[in-house]
Amino acid sequence: MSSATVYEVRVRGHLDDHWADWLGNLTIARNDDGTSTLTAPATDQARLHGLLSGLRDLGTPLLSLHAVEADVGAPAPALTRPVRTERLILRPAEPEDADTTWLYRRLPAVGEWLTEVPEDLGIYQAKFADPERLASTVVVEADGRIIGDFMLRTEDAWAQAEVADRARHTQAELGWVLDPHFTGRGFATEAVRGLLPVCFDELGVRRVVASCFLDNEASWRLMERVGMRREALAKAESLHRTGRWLDTVVYALLAEEWREDRQQRPSPIGSYDGSLFRASTQARS
Ligand SMILES: CC(C)(COP(=O)(O)OP(=O)(O)OC[C@H]1O[C@@H](n2cnc3c(N)ncnc32)[C@H](O)[C@@H]1OP(=O)(O)O)[C@@H](O)C(=O)NCCC(=O)NCCS
Repeated sequence: MSSATVYEVRVRGHLDDHWADWLGNLTIARNDDGTSTLTAPATDQARLHGLLSGLRDLGTPLLSLHAVEADVGAPAPALTRPVRTERLILRPAEPEDADTTWLYRRLPAVGEWLTEVPEDLGIYQAKFADPERLASTVVVEADGRIIGDFMLRTEDAWAQAEVADRARHTQAELGWVLDPHFTGRGFATEAVRGLLPVCFDELGVRRVVASCFLDNEASWRLMERVGMRREALAKAESLHRTGRWLDTVVYALLAEEWREDRQQRPSPIGSYDGSLFRASTQARS
């Protein structure tokens, strides 16, 4: 279980329910003493600012404001159902998937570019089962066998305070790890192509991002294969465990770019699109 700050705002007068949406998805209780209590769930500072501005615009006198920590339960998984592609099943992770994913994640060649190389299975199992991590982990299966695990999580785009509400969960970040026995066959490409419709059509984000060390060529080549654009190359930005400060690259794909690309070259979800792949290869040579 995780917690979030819930704000309870008491105002003079009885506010009608129709203001609940206008003020930002909150509940309104009308009290016997002629006041109303507005409860705004899981509210951050930007949203609170919006709520208070709304009340000011309504001309409603503010009587009190309380912040309370409330249990909001486990975070909802970004992927809620299995997705089938030509050769793969992409499904929400379960705590039991820790054991299999640990087998390849602890390999030095895999951990080379990852945040952590798990040495102890028990610690890894605990971290894997953390609700935040579980909710953003997608397991990749081929022929009933786990061949990789991806990260899919939504995040807020940066926004100025007055419009921060509109930037919430408008962006998705992808990450990927394949068991090295299964690299070099286009499985990661297929998995990303299977997740992009989830990002844009189901989660409704407007931008998908991914980043990696510049030296991790397999990773950024994957980004280019699926049509992502290199947006930034940050010099000596991140510290590798060898002690070297390495360059990092950031890639992104906008919903309209993805839709336009799909219209031009309709192809079944997740299937290999030879033309995109050839274009990327040519660009590198
Ligand atoms: C990043 C990673 C997922 C990329 O895996 P990958 O195997 O290169 O990517 P794909 O599964 O899409 O396979 C593409 C390769 O298969 C080949 N291929 C074969 N059939 C293919 C198909 N149907 N479609 C696309 N590519 C195909 C491609 O030619 C390409 O090979 P190349 O790199 O020699 O040109 C993998 O290297 C990995 O897990 N690395 C360790 C963890 C890591 O670094 N994660 C990222 C941290 S930021």
